[in-house]
Formats: sequence, C-alpha cells, structure tokens
Amino acid sequence: MDDKKERSIIMFPLPFPGHFNPMIQLARILHHRGFSVTIIHTSFNFPDPTHYPNFTFRTIHHHNEEEEDPLSKPDASGMDLVTFIRQLRQSYADPLRDSLKAEVGGGETACCLVSDVVWGKTTEVAAEEVGIRRMVLTTSGVASFCAFAAYPLLRDKHYLPIQDSRLDEPVTELPPLRVKDLPVMETNEPEELFRVVNNMVEGAKSSSGIIWNTFEDFESTTLMDFSSEFRVPVFPIGPFYKHSENILPTMKNKEDHATNDWLNKQSPRTVVYVSFGSLADIEEKEFLEIVWGLRNTKRPFLWVVRSGLVRGTDWLESLPCGFWENIGLKGKIVKWVNQLEVLAHPAVGVFWTHCGWNSTLESICEGVPMVCTPFFTDQRVNARYIVDVWQVGFMLERSNLDRKEIDKVLRKQMLEEGDGMRESCLKLTERANVCLSKDGSSSKYLEKLVSHVMSFDS
Ligand code: UDX
Repeated sequence: MDDKKERSIIMFPLPFPGHFNPMIQLARILHHRGFSVTIIHTSFNFPDPTHYPNFTFRTIHHHNEEEEDPLSKPDASGMDLVTFIRQLRQSYADPLRDSLKAEVGGGETACCLVSDVVWGKTTEVAAEEVGIRRMVLTTSGVASFCAFAAYPLLRDKHYLPIQDSRLDEPVTELPPLRVKDLPVMETNEPEELFRVVNNMVEGAKSSSGIIWNTFEDFESTTLMDFSSEFRVPVFPIGPFYKHSENILPTMKNKEDHATNDWLNKQSPRTVVYVSFGSLADIEEKEFLEIVWGLRNTKRPFLWVVRSGLVRGTDWLESLPCGFWENIGLKGKIVKWVNQLEVLAHPAVGVFWTHCGWNSTLESICEGVPMVCTPFFTDQRVNARYIVDVWQVGFMLERSNLDRKEIDKVLRKQMLEEGDGMRESCLKLTERANVCLSKDGSSSKYLEKLVSHVMSFDS
C-alpha cells in the first residue's frame, strides 16, 4: 500500500436514520484510518452538517422539488415504501452523477464511492460514468440479504408472492425461515417490489465489495453461504457503533435528561423499553392494544411514539382519557430517545422491538433480551434469527397484537425466562467484543478493507 497516496472516500447514504446512522459510523471509522470523507446527501432529510465537523457535506437536489412532491415530506410514514425507493432512485440518479463528477474532477484523488446498497444500480451507472470504483454498505444483516438474493428462487417455488394459507410452512431452502418470515413489504405494486429488490442485489453483486455492519462470529454460517454463492469480497467489520471512534460523549438535550432521570428512578431490569424504529407505522386499534397491554403488565415502560407512528394521527390523540391515572411513575411516552443510552441503562429489562438491524445489534451489544414484533423486509428475518438461532427473544407477531397476548409475552420475558435470555444475550455481547478486539475478525477485516480501497487506483 502506498501510504503517501491521498485517502479519500465519497459516501452516499440512504436518507433515513436506520441507514444514515451506520453510514456516519462507518465514516468515523474510515476517517480514523486517515481517509478524508465527503458525504453526498439528498435534499430529502438533509442532516445538520454542524453535528459532523470532520466531514464535508454536499447536497443534491432532484429536479422536481415542489410542495406536493412526496420527497419533500420529512419522513415516509404512510407511504408505499417500494414506490418511494423507486422514486428516490429515479429522482437522484442524475444529480448524483453530476455531484460525483464535480468531486472527482476537483483535483482530489477519490479512492472510491461507498453507497448504501438500497441505491442499487443507480450508483453503479453513476460511478462507471465518472470512472471511480464503488463499494456498497449493507445496513442490514447477511441472512436477510441472502433471502433477498433468493427472490427468483422463492418465486419459482411459489413461496412468493406470499399466500396466507402457507404462512407457517418452512422455507426448506432458507432454514430456519418460514414463509411468514420472508422479507417482503406491503405494496400496491408487487411487481415493482421484485424489481426494486433485484436491482439492489445486482448492484451489490457488481460492486467492488460489500461492507457489512455485522460480525463474523454472529453470522458465520450465512456469511459462508453468501461467499460460496457470490464472488464479491465481503467486509463484516461491525458492530460499527462499538468501534472506539464511535464511542462519543453523548450530547444530551432536555428530553434526554428527563428520560435519564426517569430511568434512574426505576429498579434494575424492570423497564420495558418499546420502540418500532424510524419507519414502521401502526393502526389506531393496534396502538390501543399496546397501550392496554403495557398497562396491564404493571411494569414500568418507556415507549417511543414518533409523530406519524399511529396512522392518521399527529401524536397521542388516541390515548384514552384517564390513561395516566393511577399509573404514576410507571410509564413514559416520548417522541424519540437516545436509544444507545437507554439500552445501556441498568433499569432496562427488555426491548420490545420491530427488529430493525441497528436495534437488533444495539440490543445484543448492550445485553438486553428482546420481544420481537417485526413489520416488514429484513425485520422479519432478523426476528426469526433472534428467536430461533440466537435465542435472545420471544416472538409477538403483529397479527397477534392484543392486550392479553402482549401482557403474556412481556411477563414471560420479564419474569419467567428473562434471566436465562439475558445470559445468552451477554454471551453474544462478549462474542461481539472479541471480534472488535485488536486481533478479532472485525479488526482484521477493517485492515483488509483499508488495503482493498487503497489498491483501487494504484
Ligand atoms: C430500517 C430496517 O428495518 C433496518 O434493518 C435497516 O438496516 C435500516 O432501515 P429502522 O426502522 O430505522 O431500520 O430501524 P433500525 O435499523 O433499528 O434503526 C433505527 C435507529 O434509530 C437505531 O440506530 C436506533 O438506535 C435509532 N433510534 C430509534 C434512536 O436513536 N431513538 C429512537 O427513539 C428510535
């Protein structure tokens, strides 16, 4: 490797927290290894660059920015995500290419582009035109990516589109998944879902490498399956947020302080922390079942209700009058928390989660067992692995979200089998720490990644 060569990376995240956060964590890791980082970001959900002083930000605008344009909304709540992703790809393809040209033509040596895998072949075309190499960041796990890659087979074998009569059938080609665990999402355009997924998989296969926010010891079998089928080099260097350069002093706002004060008043391992991530939404009737289910458990709970989480409402309009009466300090509902701080707090006993990949990794790294209610795509695969393979959670299916079932599963996790699961979880935490240690697999893959990128334009 030529150490004198300028190390420069251009990153192109997907503009949602579950994708942007791991990209920024990766940016910090690479910056720490001496790379200068430029982040090309859509005007949609453009972040505040002052929070990331080490990086240069470039905004790209699509050509049709008008009030009624869905891409001008602050999040994708209630939208058909498949349509939304297609629209993002179409709208930002040309602006990305133009921005890349400006970056690369500016005299700096750009080693490569790292784009979110969901951008698919959009970034392949742009990078080829500009003449730089492209790697992808996969913000979800390996098992779910393998399930996406198996879409053609799953269609041939008629597992997809999913038929209600086959939900519990095992998918023998992808154990331990059952038909209901396959990574699909509700859409008005089922054919478009296949195209969107295929485009993502092809974009990853044709890349110069896949950077994965996972660790080898966690997904070793699926990583081996992946590598035996695809030739593209893989770099499982996660969990990103546990690399030392990502362990930052937390900047707390007023709400964070209030949440922390509330947690400090609870006994160790008694709090049910509930969050369904940054994109999922629920019906009002599901909201009410959760409300009563949580109350019935008589355990303290901390629940993140984003505005937009409950369809057709702004925030808590559906909360029954008198709900807080006699509940005292037992419950707290907030719009957003610093999730890493919350999971690390000793009062938290269980995480009721939608099983987004970041939340899954964070819960495991903080040693908190889970209750799993997956909504769409990779979350369903993650949930099956959490329950059946890693055995650190119980399933509470969305189709079963009634107050009695909620009470039953939460009690089981908190009172009856919680200790055993916490122990299994802490073993995984330890395995993650070993991978991140100096001679661990994530550290070694990171060295390989740096050499790989530096070899591109030599
Ligand atoms: C979705 C997919 O489900 C996920 O698998 C994919 O990798 C990214 O897109 P999302 O719904 O955003 O993810 O969930 P998740 O992956 O769990 O990411 C949410 C992130 O927001 C986590 O890093 C979590 O710590 C953070 N968060 C969430 C907060 O900081 N505060 C909150 O109140 C809620």
